[in-house]
Amino acid sequence: MNARLREVTPGLAGDAQIGRALDRVDGPLKVAGRAPYAYEFAGSGETAYGYVVGATVARGRIRRIDTSAAERAPGVVLVLTHENAPELAPFGPRVAKSRLSRPRPYLQGTQVRHWGDPVAFVVAESFEQARAAAFLVRVEYEVEKADLDTRVEPHRDEGFEGGGLPDSEIGDLDAACAAAAHVVDVTYTTPYQHHNAMEPHATLAAWDGERLTLHVAHQMLAEGRTSVADTLRMSKEQVRIVARYIGGGFGGKLTTECDAILSAVAARRLGRPVKTALSRQQTFHNCTHRNESVQRLRLAADADGRLTGIGHTSWQQTAWFDDHIEPTVTCTRALYAAANRSTRLRLVRLDLPMSDSMRAPGEAIGMLTLECAMDELAEKLGMDPLELRRRNDTDVHPEKGKPFSSRHLVECLDEGARRFGWDQRPRTPASRREGRSLIGYGMASAIRPNMLMASSASVHLDAGGRLVARQAMTDIGTGTYTILTQIAADALGLDPAAVRIEMGDTDFPKASGSGGSVGAASAGNALHRACLDVRRQLLDLAAGDAHSALFGVDAGARSSARFAGGWIEAAGRREELVRLLARQAAAGVDGQGRIEPGDVSQDYDQQTFGAHFAEVAVDADTGEIRLRRMLGVFAAGRILNPKTARSQALGGLVWGIGSALTEETFVDARSGAYVNRDLAEYHIPVHADAPEVEAIFLEEHDDIVNALGAKGIGELGICGAGAAVANAVYNASGVRIREFPLTLDKVLAGWAAQGR
Ligand code: MOS
Repeated sequence: MNARLREVTPGLAGDAQIGRALDRVDGPLKVAGRAPYAYEFAGSGETAYGYVVGATVARGRIRRIDTSAAERAPGVVLVLTHENAPELAPFGPRVAKSRLSRPRPYLQGTQVRHWGDPVAFVVAESFEQARAAAFLVRVEYEVEKADLDTRVEPHRDEGFEGGGLPDSEIGDLDAACAAAAHVVDVTYTTPYQHHNAMEPHATLAAWDGERLTLHVAHQMLAEGRTSVADTLRMSKEQVRIVARYIGGGFGGKLTTECDAILSAVAARRLGRPVKTALSRQQTFHNCTHRNESVQRLRLAADADGRLTGIGHTSWQQTAWFDDHIEPTVTCTRALYAAANRSTRLRLVRLDLPMSDSMRAPGEAIGMLTLECAMDELAEKLGMDPLELRRRNDTDVHPEKGKPFSSRHLVECLDEGARRFGWDQRPRTPASRREGRSLIGYGMASAIRPNMLMASSASVHLDAGGRLVARQAMTDIGTGTYTILTQIAADALGLDPAAVRIEMGDTDFPKASGSGGSVGAASAGNALHRACLDVRRQLLDLAAGDAHSALFGVDAGARSSARFAGGWIEAAGRREELVRLLARQAAAGVDGQGRIEPGDVSQDYDQQTFGAHFAEVAVDADTGEIRLRRMLGVFAAGRILNPKTARSQALGGLVWGIGSALTEETFVDARSGAYVNRDLAEYHIPVHADAPEVEAIFLEEHDDIVNALGAKGIGELGICGAGAAVANAVYNASGVRIREFPLTLDKVLAGWAAQGR
């Protein structure tokens, strides 16, 4: 593997397409309703509609299930239960495979794993008929006592299997805390949260002989295909997954869910296509969620505010039959220098559905608590919290010892402070009042790992100079279609209108999909390489063509050729692309590209950085918290498209508002159901909650990460965002709340405790 990958990056000068704020190429289709989502595809033949019947107990067994009334209901063609469902592969232990590609069996026995666990699947001629009949299925349960509370015994240490993150222990944290001038030792909690993508999970399943096609809302098609094929005991080649457009993912569509598996099973049984959409309520129980966490933070500092110790232990829920763990302490390992360190993750197994990734899994809730604890330390020190961050910056990863490929944390802090007017912040909590409002400022750092996943691409340049690129990539609303268009246009000097990106199909070359903020760099570099493959072929053709102006140009001149505006320039001469194609490649030129994580440097730690600033108003009588303004400043490699990048960062900031102030799913301690399972009761910030939110990117050249210099940006925006808001709430109110979300009742309780 190369220590530093160096590859010519064409089109950086002149009419470069990369870096342009190109409008979304799929925008017109979306606003016209012509971008089809999974549920909008029609199967060939008479499509039937499925409806999932979920268990109404948290733990137990089905004693008796009576489907007779449902089967007699109008339009019903099939009712599947554990008594007549086909045998599927067991969920089984996670061994080497990604958790996202594990088998996901349903209706395999009498055991109920959690509230909402599918116990029957009703299929009818219409959605309404299936739903009506679903309520006629009668189930009797043997109810067992369920374990539902993360906080009952938060310190029980169950460890985890399946290759989670090992603890990190460096130096002696206890000794550092004992000797420190200032110590913070605090416990924060973060709640259950749900993704709530605008498009609920949906599938259309259709069989053609032994071949299954699923149109499904899924972020990562390769993992989805393996999961479906293994569940149904088929070969991967027999399964095709199609996801052309996806209405939001946020991690909630990384896993294959019951809509996909049960639709496939029923479609095979019936010999006709079956379509299933989960209701908003069902997505709460039948898809994944963010686990609750209890996090203890210990910070030790000398009198000058230099950290001597950092400790972070997180206890968090997982389903009793699973081993997913959110990597809550990873940012704590990388963000600040300190000689003595201890970070640990612990699972608490409960009778609740499976948790999985959600909007910067681990980093988001880990940074929420770490950056609040840093604010607490700054207060003890009597130090500007921004200065505390600056003082503990580091050139090398504090636990791995590797240098960072790039790290511009301090630049983000300083630029953000300048733009936000950080010097105007109230020095004393609860000291600035405007009418009924107490005004406060808060800030936090941002950091998130940059990763890459193996990806490939194929492209075809036709004789007319139009390019079609194919990748089993997904666009979950982030702008992937657009940035891939730019990358291809840039490499070959084409107008973006001459580029067509086709994706969302496992028949295309395997690509990362969308998750972990890896998509742009992974799929993008694979596509870039496929276009370089076409360039090399075109230059070879030109150099060997006696009729070309580029005839005979040597390899050196070919490697520094420039493709722009439909022309190829090398050695001071130029050839028009379509003329060369007409003479030498009337059938067009095909190119292939592939990238693997091993292709980029392993000698550096790769992260993205940023800084968050927030101003809030807290009503002095009611404790109501309103965000007034928020700013995020980020350094995250080369920005492929400032418009789509800004949109993603703004989304991250808004999630930060949600995680600080509004988002929380409540578990009914009697039934194990999520109580507030709709958008009326699960509070996602709306426009009125985000009045003035801005995100900017500092230009960063990181030539170590990959040839394009692009790093993942999707999830950076939320990392630390909620902490800036929470720290502003403290600065405004003088109440430090360590139980998220921060709601007005907790502010009032804090004031009451202060005797205010
Ligand atoms: Mo992301 S939470 O890995 O979709």
